[in-house]
Amino acid sequence: MPCHEAPTVPPVSWDDLPDGIVVVDADGRVQVFNAAAVKITGVAATTAVGRQLTDVLPLLDERGNDWWECSRVSRNLPRVTGQPERRLTFAGSQCERDLNVTVRYVRVEGQLVQVALSLRDTASRERLERNRADLVSTVAHELRSPLTSVKGFTATLLAKWDRFTEEQKKLMLNTVNTDADRVTRLLAEVLDVSRIDSGRIQMRKQIVDLDLTLRRVVDGKVAAGEATHDRFAVFTDGKLPEMWLDSDKIEQVLHNLVDNALRHGAGTVTIVMRGTPTGAEVTVADEGEGVPEASASRVFAKFWRGATRGNGTGLGLYIARALIEAHGGTIMVGRAPGGGAEFRFVVPAGAPVFA
Ligand SMILES: Nc1ncnc2c1ncn2[C@@H]1O[C@H](COP(=O)(O)OP(=O)(O)OP(=O)(O)O)[C@@H](O)[C@H]1O
Ligand SMILES: [Mg+2]
Repeated sequence: MPCHEAPTVPPVSWDDLPDGIVVVDADGRVQVFNAAAVKITGVAATTAVGRQLTDVLPLLDERGNDWWECSRVSRNLPRVTGQPERRLTFAGSQCERDLNVTVRYVRVEGQLVQVALSLRDTASRERLERNRADLVSTVAHELRSPLTSVKGFTATLLAKWDRFTEEQKKLMLNTVNTDADRVTRLLAEVLDVSRIDSGRIQMRKQIVDLDLTLRRVVDGKVAAGEATHDRFAVFTDGKLPEMWLDSDKIEQVLHNLVDNALRHGAGTVTIVMRGTPTGAEVTVADEGEGVPEASASRVFAKFWRGATRGNGTGLGLYIARALIEAHGGTIMVGRAPGGGAEFRFVVPAGAPVFA
């Protein structure tokens, strides 16, 4: 029987860790200063190792006191194992920045031998928190206008039901209906965005017939009365390989591209699917105004809407890009031969995933 030797895996080094790691001895002399710590503080490892922590990494608490000095009492208490994450200011000679610092005490028979500090830059977390706050305020703002209309029309109808003609009542109820749909759509999109932003997209790959999926999307649009069949020209160029994709997510992407072509574009919507050496490519083109070149990189941004804003929230393409990228594919926008917008995505054929 052939004998396969297990490959030797090199041990993880301090430099492989994503957090800044600083290890000092009981007297505060630096023993380890990993690559992430160098990146966060701008202090070279060769400068730091062997020197006193208070010299190379002066850390101040919120009152401006020297943290190493202030934490002496807790270091000397044998049962204390460390300090939970807290924000300290690194007051370097070149720069000053806030760091989230977590501390562990290494003791041998109750005697302190080492102190390990993990450092995290606060900037990226603050950016994330700011993004989240922006999302909340934008969503609240987006919800306000349809809800104001729902409330306004229903209140008016309830108060003055007899004073309106059948036609006027129907018009108001139609508006209420459309606005309620808009709220539902917005909430579904926001849930998708939250799943994407927190890295919780779950892929369920199966063999997908792209042609069939696309026809389902087009038929759905026709059934909903948003277009007639003659607005679409669908071509499949050659034979597509067997595609392992998340069927619902690909349908969602196609749905948004087709929906955009109908709502923001004009004329015939031409959809072409073709096989590539590694998967498939799909283009959705229309004959409208198109996306100005200057905006091409922004159409995929969260909440971005151009002049043709219509009823949308500007989340469709952000979600579409994330879903395509979750498949290992790419999506881009360009100009269609007919002058309108042309969205093109490529997805690899993929392979079954066995859990
Ligand atoms: N085919 C197109 N032609 C012209 N402009 C387009 C086209 N597709 C998208 N856009 C522009 O890109 C913007 C962003 O599109 P996106 O799909 O992300 O949002 P939306 O359609 O406005 O809202 P929704 O979240 O409901 O999809 C649109 O508001 C529109 O201005
Ligand atoms: Mg859209």
